[in-house]
Amino acid sequence: MNSSLLERYLSVRRYSESLISPLSDEDMVVQSMSDASPAKWHVAHTTWFFETFLLVPHLPGYQTFDPTFAYLFNSYYEALGPRHPRPQRGLLSRPPLARIRDYRRHVDEHMQGLLNSPAAANLSDLIDLGLAHEEQHQELLLMDILHLFSLSPLKPAYAANWREPSGDRPGHYQLMAGGMVELGHIGEEFSFDNENPRHATWLQPFEISDRLVSNGEWLAFMADGGYQRAELWLSEGWNKVQEDGWQAPLYWQPQGQSWQQMSLAGLRGIDAAAPVMHISYYEACAYATWANARLPTETEWEIAARSGLLEQIEDSAWQWTQSAYAPYPGFHPAASAVGEYNGKFMVSQLVLRGGACVTPRGHSRLSYRNFFYPGQRWMFSGLRLARDLASQQTGEDESVARYSSAFSQDVRNGLGKPEKSLAPKYFYDAAGSELFEAICRTREYYPTRAETALLKDIANELSTCIPDGAALIEFGSGASIKTRLLLEASPQLDVYIPLDISESALRKATVQLQKDYPALWVAPEVGDFCHLGDLPNAARTRLRVAFFPGSTLGNFCQQDSVDFLRAVRTFLGTDARLIVGLDMLKDIATLEAAYDDADGITAQFNKNLLTRINRELGGTFNIEQFLHVAEWNPEQSCMEMFLVSTQEQDVEAAGQSFHFSEGERLHTECSHKYTPDSVRRLAEQAGWTVERQWLSPAPQVGIFVLHG
Ligand code: SAH
Ligand code: AVI
Repeated sequence: MNSSLLERYLSVRRYSESLISPLSDEDMVVQSMSDASPAKWHVAHTTWFFETFLLVPHLPGYQTFDPTFAYLFNSYYEALGPRHPRPQRGLLSRPPLARIRDYRRHVDEHMQGLLNSPAAANLSDLIDLGLAHEEQHQELLLMDILHLFSLSPLKPAYAANWREPSGDRPGHYQLMAGGMVELGHIGEEFSFDNENPRHATWLQPFEISDRLVSNGEWLAFMADGGYQRAELWLSEGWNKVQEDGWQAPLYWQPQGQSWQQMSLAGLRGIDAAAPVMHISYYEACAYATWANARLPTETEWEIAARSGLLEQIEDSAWQWTQSAYAPYPGFHPAASAVGEYNGKFMVSQLVLRGGACVTPRGHSRLSYRNFFYPGQRWMFSGLRLARDLASQQTGEDESVARYSSAFSQDVRNGLGKPEKSLAPKYFYDAAGSELFEAICRTREYYPTRAETALLKDIANELSTCIPDGAALIEFGSGASIKTRLLLEASPQLDVYIPLDISESALRKATVQLQKDYPALWVAPEVGDFCHLGDLPNAARTRLRVAFFPGSTLGNFCQQDSVDFLRAVRTFLGTDARLIVGLDMLKDIATLEAAYDDADGITAQFNKNLLTRINRELGGTFNIEQFLHVAEWNPEQSCMEMFLVSTQEQDVEAAGQSFHFSEGERLHTECSHKYTPDSVRRLAEQAGWTVERQWLSPAPQVGIFVLHG
């Protein structure tokens, strides 16, 4: 049995069902324009796709659910015969919704049969395509519902707590070296045919903004006559402005002297810092002209995105490029009906890159090519500016692209400071995550054992803080071992979302959890909890409880822990809870032993940071010439770890040279220790209140339930 494919199948199918749960039966039938489809049609069509391309040809003896559905729910496949006209999908009041739900159940049951059969091994490409196809319709469903609701005089919210993307600073141009580059999909994972074949192409040096154009910047364009100045517009675009009376992005409507915007959360004021969305290619080009810039080509976009210097890549809005949607050199559509998936649309459309807040997490990739006609605006489309270099530079720029990841930048900043330091999040590459687990097994490192024992004792009481149908989001979940105690005591949970920066730890934990809890929906997120973006899809329509055990909060410096707790409140929304596990203040000998175990595992964990810099950033650290030191800092009430240079030396890392004097220290971690009072103060500073708390016997750790 291919259990991970089956899990993924069930998880994608369940997400579609969760998306329609806020909709009434009437909401699901109406079609607001010919580009849009009713929600009912989307959920039937995606089911038809699995039935037609998988069950009929590959499950022996399979009987189609209803022979009329081939006509009703074929989208555009000429090879599969005639179909119901697209603009009339809203007339399908029959079959009733209940029958579509039966259809989904029927196909799901048979797909489970197929996935459990030996044939599944040869069908994974087709199943991946079916899942990616359903995910595309999940996004379309939200686009189409927003369009429908925007036309309602009641301006209903799809989900009152829907979070739109946000922003906090304007973009900065980043220099890209160009040269001979490769474009297209890399690796063995699924990709659409249109992202292939990977091929080489030449790029001039260019600059590209690290952020998207914001609503505030768009308001400045409007205030400067952006929609009234023909000289800014392409001719076709200017015609659209005249004919359709465009004065602002789609879904904006005037409100006195200012504007409001219809969103999935209903009608709202404009958030000036958030990226502008629902603009056509024509508007994007007019803005770029006004801003003395241009749109990036799709090659520039992809190369820049891979450099690690860009933000707002996949989680905000799709980004228009100036590239026509055309086949890559060597592209051939598949010979069968699925060959109609992409290839036949390769004319008159433009490529958008990235992903949007409505795109299911994990659906997009850096090589992903979305495409729309230049006048369309109901998708979540925005723009990122690019520009040519004033003078063509070469040579020096190569190093710009080479060490451009966030890790590299943080190493350059951190080692360049008078008091050298690096953030502890960089400990957790695959080896670091394993070393952390080994630390937890040492005799001296008590926090994991103490917290696990406490969690065992209080699991039932803790579970009363978790509402029915809630989503549990864990920050820094690692191996998700303690979480099991909570999961077992809380069958009312709908979904568990482990979030961790360590992809390897997350992948391993997810496979184990899915095996051990087949009924639980596990929706892992690889990410940095210092940059909480939008809520993961699986949490959007559910009550949320967050879990932050292990005293990982203690690894933030004091101000960062307040900022983090504040950010978590915003991220989770109203009426959420945060369960935090923290290590309590105790005698210094116990603490110092815990951070300097006799077997030297903590020392290895600390030094692995240097090994990682050597491997990933061309570092030349000689690990032998650095000592692990763990020290109690009484002012900050924290254990601190350092790597201390045993001699004067120069070290290369991330394209730069750094000098260490003998005895000079590189600070690698703080681990704060708390009292019940200091926890209360910290929580209150961030707008939380401590609702309940439990303390273990010595060596003492605490579990605190915070309420927002
Ligand atoms: N929660 C587990 C693991 C704690 S170890 C426990 O209590 O035992 C800390 C975990 O946080 C690691 O898995 C590490 O990869 C993760 N982590 C550290 N910094 C992070 C960050 N900035 N964003 C996301 N995860 C992070
Ligand atoms: C993950 N974090 C809470 C651990 C701690 O105790 O600060 C990491 C660690 N560092 C050294 N040992 C363990």
